[in-house]
Amino acid sequence: MAKLLSASLMCADLLNLREAVSQLEKAGIDLLHMDIMDGCFVPNITLGFDLINAVKSITDIPLDVHMMVNDPGRFIDYLKLDKNDYICIHYESDNHAQRTLAKIRDKGIRAGVALNPQTPVNALEYLTDYIDMALVMTVSPGFAGQKLFAGAERKVRQTREFLNSSGNENILIEVDGNISPENGAKLSRCGADVFVLGTSSLFVKDKDMKQAAQAFRAVL
Ligand code: DX5
Ligand code: ZN
Repeated sequence: MAKLLSASLMCADLLNLREAVSQLEKAGIDLLHMDIMDGCFVPNITLGFDLINAVKSITDIPLDVHMMVNDPGRFIDYLKLDKNDYICIHYESDNHAQRTLAKIRDKGIRAGVALNPQTPVNALEYLTDYIDMALVMTVSPGFAGQKLFAGAERKVRQTREFLNSSGNENILIEVDGNISPENGAKLSRCGADVFVLGTSSLFVKDKDMKQAAQAFRAVL
């Protein structure tokens, strides 16, 4: 499976977002990772629906929306996305994850389910018919600049084994949090397909984004 780079927009220069998107296009980035937080499910608030829809209107790079909010089903209709975009919801924040995932797909958008570090892989078991992507959080969500959690490699390996052995080899595994080139290389070998690039790789002061993206691809 092709390996995909998803740039985390919350780490970009928020006062120059149009320029950041244009640089990411030139750098050949595959997806734009957009973090929505509600200050309840996670202790932070980041990008909102209007901003995400505005970014969607200026680029052809598909969006990869990561909803870290309680009851995400309430908000799906606010996002104006299409068949190449993803919406990931958290298993832990939705008592009716199956229904919300089905709703995302009914709207013609790709669906994903995210697992916090301590959530076991078998949480995916009855959701595989409803998802295109499994987002394995490699840090506890909420903030950029954290450290990979101790079980990250084992969890990605287990997730890939679980998906392959249940006939779901097409479901992508995304990893999010402290994805440096070193951690990306390790997690790629464990079976990760989509890499969220934030402050650990792409958005580093004085670093050229195109070169950083090329260097990251080279280690996968
Ligand atoms: C939260 C975010 C962060 C962040 C990743 O879901 O997606 O994890 O942007 O970047 P770093 O490399 O700072 O962990
Ligand atoms: Zn994220």
